[in-house]
Amino acid sequence: MADWLKTIGDFFDHLVSSYSPEATQINHIFIAFLAVAGLVFLLVLGLSVISAIRFRSSKRPDEPKQIFGSNKLEIFWTTASFIAVAVFFVISVRSMEAINAPADKDRKADIVVVGHQWWWEMRYPEYGFTTANELHIPANKKLLMRMESADVIHDWWVPSLGRKIDLIPGRSNYRWIQADTAGTYEGTCSEYCGAQHAWMRIRVIAQTQDKYNQWVKAHQEIPPIPKDSLAREGAKLFQSKTCSNCHTIRGTAAAKRVGPDLTHLQSRETLLSGMFKNTQKNLRRWLKNPQKVKEGAHMPNFNLSDQELNALVAYLEELK
Ligand code: CUA
Repeated sequence: MADWLKTIGDFFDHLVSSYSPEATQINHIFIAFLAVAGLVFLLVLGLSVISAIRFRSSKRPDEPKQIFGSNKLEIFWTTASFIAVAVFFVISVRSMEAINAPADKDRKADIVVVGHQWWWEMRYPEYGFTTANELHIPANKKLLMRMESADVIHDWWVPSLGRKIDLIPGRSNYRWIQADTAGTYEGTCSEYCGAQHAWMRIRVIAQTQDKYNQWVKAHQEIPPIPKDSLAREGAKLFQSKTCSNCHTIRGTAAAKRVGPDLTHLQSRETLLSGMFKNTQKNLRRWLKNPQKVKEGAHMPNFNLSDQELNALVAYLEELK
């Protein structure tokens, strides 16, 4: 197959790939709408081409008969458009009913997602821990998410898992989350929220129930105090350099929620909301000069010396 055909194929494939009941509903509407719109497009294009050929001036030098309006045609296209709009209205309302999560304030959310400039906080109230940017869920299970914001409006969108939803300061929005099969689903913030809006990526990692349970268990544990002397030095620096004023590492004095919870930092695949792979080199680059890496991020430059950098990285690498 020609490359460009494959590209178009991939584009459509991606456009309608759905891995949740919610996304499937939305895709059905999209495909039906695309089909009707495509039909109208072809009809108009076809009639235009036919007219251009049949009534071209070389064939008919005289001015053709002028027609001013047709009641029959007007009744036809008014009725046809009305029916099309009415049918789509009913389908849309029914899908919205099926998709919308309950706004019932008494129903406890399984996961609370808080949008920050420019990262995602993910709390698991039932299990008592918090993580960031990578949402783990059990495959094939419907969970309720509560969406909030710590600063400006953000918007959660993982296309293959369904609808978008805004995270608005001062209010809670609810949505279901479900992935039919285990896998990693990528998404991004879809509401312009400042300089690093583009680097507010989302990863939803759906796991088999067993793997998910293991992940939960590991996250409930508190990381051990490092044995290595360099990492111990890093642990001290984490407190003295005031990292602890913004971050949480459970089991230590650091318990703030301004920046991401770092208790199990090494369990994440990426750093900085999907900006980089989680490697020692990238972590070091970030700590050395955060503003050069992600300009505008709320992490200040601490002007750490090489020795301090080594110690902090050694410590953070222990947070498995
Ligand atoms: Cu958060 Cu755009």
